[in-house]
Amino acid sequence: MQIEWSDQYKLGIPLIDAEHKALADLVNHFFIRSEAGAAPEELEAILSSLIDKTRDHFRHEENLLDRHGYPHLALHQDAHIGLLQHLSRFQEDYIQGRTEARDITVDTVTFFRNWLLDHILKDDMPYRPYIQTLS
Ligand SMILES: [Fe+2]
Ligand SMILES: [Fe+2]
Repeated sequence: MQIEWSDQYKLGIPLIDAEHKALADLVNHFFIRSEAGAAPEELEAILSSLIDKTRDHFRHEENLLDRHGYPHLALHQDAHIGLLQHLSRFQEDYIQGRTEARDITVDTVTFFRNWLLDHILKDDMPYRPYIQTLS
């Protein structure tokens, strides 16, 4: 069970696309290691690095939107805060060993798919026309 990456998630902004793909890769790495029966410490470390990389990506994206005067930046920041909260909650459940977080189920995959891909399609895509200088 993995997140299938495809060109439909590409914004055409190389830095942002590379970061989105790296987040998807990290989520898949988490699934793969989990299914391989990796130790909880290793999986917790993957989740921590996912949170760090997500925070970095959101900061880069918000800086880019700010530089280009994106009119819906405040709403976008709110969405980012919500996504980080969801991820922290998942991490907390995971560390506390709640079964639904520890077993990679369809629900977990759906959670991550919604968490990452829906945000790219629904919230990130609309800012594309505002980024005149592709960087
Ligand atoms: Fe975003
Ligand atoms: Fe993004």
